Amino acid sequence: MTDDNTANVPDLSTTAGKIADHRLRYNEAVYERNEAAEARQHPKGKMTARERIEGLLDRGSFVEFDKYVRHRTHAFGMEGNRPFGDSVITGAGTIEGRQVAVYAQDFTIFGGSLGEVAGEKIIKIMNFALKTGVPIIGILDSGGARIQEGVVALGKYGEIFRLNTMCSGVIPQLSIIMGPAAGGAVYSPALTDFVIMVDKTSHMFVTGPDVIKTVTGEEVGFEELGGALTHNKVSGVAHYLASDEHDALDYARTLISYLPDNNMAELPVYDSDTVLEITDADRKLNTIIPDSPNQPYDMKVIIESIVDGGDFLEVQPLFAPNILIGFARIEGRSVGVVANQPSEMAGTLNIEAGEKASRFVRFCDSFSIPILTLVDVPGYLPGTDQEWTGVIRRGAKLLYAYAEATVPLVTIITRKAYGGAYIVMGSKQLGADVNIAWPTAEIAVMGGAGAVNILYRAELKRAEAAGEDVEAVRAQLAKEYTYNVASPFLAAERGELDNVLEPAGTRLAVLKALRGLRGKRVEQPAKKHGNIPL
Ligand code: HXC
Repeated sequence: MTDDNTANVPDLSTTAGKIADHRLRYNEAVYERNEAAEARQHPKGKMTARERIEGLLDRGSFVEFDKYVRHRTHAFGMEGNRPFGDSVITGAGTIEGRQVAVYAQDFTIFGGSLGEVAGEKIIKIMNFALKTGVPIIGILDSGGARIQEGVVALGKYGEIFRLNTMCSGVIPQLSIIMGPAAGGAVYSPALTDFVIMVDKTSHMFVTGPDVIKTVTGEEVGFEELGGALTHNKVSGVAHYLASDEHDALDYARTLISYLPDNNMAELPVYDSDTVLEITDADRKLNTIIPDSPNQPYDMKVIIESIVDGGDFLEVQPLFAPNILIGFARIEGRSVGVVANQPSEMAGTLNIEAGEKASRFVRFCDSFSIPILTLVDVPGYLPGTDQEWTGVIRRGAKLLYAYAEATVPLVTIITRKAYGGAYIVMGSKQLGADVNIAWPTAEIAVMGGAGAVNILYRAELKRAEAAGEDVEAVRAQLAKEYTYNVASPFLAAERGELDNVLEPAGTRLAVLKALRGLRGKRVEQPAKKHGNIPL
C-alpha cells in the first residue's frame, strides 16, 4: 500500500475545492513565508521584504507579480526546497497615488541570492516599469549571484545591468540597500540614479574583506570597507545615509515626489502659497553676504529662502560638501539646485564636487527638471593631488553636463565667480538662460590678490624698494582691481549677465524666470550619443 499524500488536499474536482486550494497556496506564498521571514529578520533589526514594500507604498496599493514562481534547479539537492516566489518579491503600487514598480530581495530565501527565476522576476518588473513609464525602486538585501546556479545567475545579472542602462534617462531608478550587496551585484545599484543605504545594516563592495586580505594582505572590516557611512562620505556611491529602514523608505517616497514618472511625463505640480511680492524673509538676504570676502556663510540659507516652504531635499549631503545638490519646488514645481557651499573649503571646486554635480545636472536634464545654480566659487582647488587624479578629465564632466543640458537653466551669482569655475557653474556661455548677479558679485579671471601679484609685480617691487608698506599698497591695488574689473556691472554691461539684482528680489526673479522658461525648446544636433569625459 502507498502513502496517501492527498489526504489534506482539497477536492480539486469541485469549484470550492479549487478555491480552497488557491487559498492554501496563497497563504503559503504570502503569510507563512512572511512569518518565517519575520523570525529571521526582526532579531537583526531588519524588516522582511514584504514589510519593506508595504512601508514604501501607499497602504493597500501593492499588486504582487509572480508570487507562485519557483526555481527549477536540481543542483545541490535544491529540488527539495522550492519556496513560492523564490528570493525576491516584485510588483507595482503607488506612492502618493502615483504608480511605481518595485522589487525587494528576501534575504531569508537562499540569502536573497539571484538565480535564474529571481533574475527573471526582476527583469519582468523592470520591463513592466519601462513599458508603462513609471519609476522602478529596488530594495536590495542579497548575497549576490546564487552560487548553486553558476553562469545562469551571472547571465541574469548581465540582463539586469543592460536593462538598468536602457532605463537610464527614461524612468527614474532608485536603489535602497538594506543588507549586503556584494560582488558584481553592486553594479545594478551603481547604474541607477539614486542609492540609499541604511546605517550599520547595509554593505556594498566588489571584493569583500576576506578576498582583500588574501590578495593584498590589507585588513579591513565590512563596515569600514563598504558600510553606509563609507559610501555616503568617502566613495560617493550612495546618496543618502538613512538612520534606519523607515528613514530610508521615507527618503525614497519624498524623492519620488519631486520626480516625473518618466522622461516624457510632466513634472508633478503641488499646491503652493507663493507670495508674489518681496517679503520680510526675502529682505533678510540683503544682509547674508559678509563684508569680508573671505568670511564664509551658509548657502543653504539662501536656497531655503528662495524655494517653496524652505524645503530643500539635499542629495549626497555627506560627499563633497563644498557643493550642494538637491531638489526643491518653486511655485509647486520641481527644480534641481546646484550650489557652491562657501562654508566648506570656501566653496572651491574639486574632482569630487565636479562629479557629484555633473551627474545631478545630467539627471535633471534627462527628466526635464529645471536647474537653479547658485554661485560663490573662488576657483578650482589647486594641487598635485587634484592634477594627478585627473581634475582635467574629471572636471570636464561638469562643463559637458551643463553644456548639453536643454532644461531651463537659471544662475544666480551671489559672490565669487572666478576663472574656469565661473564658466562651469552654469554660465551664460555654457547655455544658461537667465543669469543674474547680486551687487556683491565678483566676476573675473582671478581674485584681486592673485591678479595684483601678476599685473603689478613691478609696482610692488618699487614700493618695497622705496620702503613703503607693501601690504597696504597690495591691498589698495586689489581693492581697485575688484571694483573696476570684477564688478558685476562690467559683466552686465556686456550682456553676460541679464541683470544685477538686490538679494531681496531673488525669489521673485527666479520664479518669474522659471515661469518664462516653461516653454523652452532646444534642438541638439542629431547624434547617436555624446562622449562625455569619463
Ligand atoms: C547562494 C547564498 C549566497 C549566494 C548567501 N547565501 N549568499 N546562497 N548563493 N550567493 C545563503 C547562505 O548559504 C545561507 O544559507 C544564507 O544565504 C544566509 O547567509 P549567511 O552567510 O548565513 O549570512 P551572513 O552571515 O549574514 O552573511 C551574508 C553574506 C555571506 C555576507 C552575504 O552570505 C556571503 O558572503 N555570501 C556570499 C557573497 C558572495 O560572494 N556572493 C557572490 C558575489 S559575486 P542557509 O541555508 O545557511 O540559511 C556576484 C557576482 C555577480 O554576485 C556578478 C554580476 C556580473
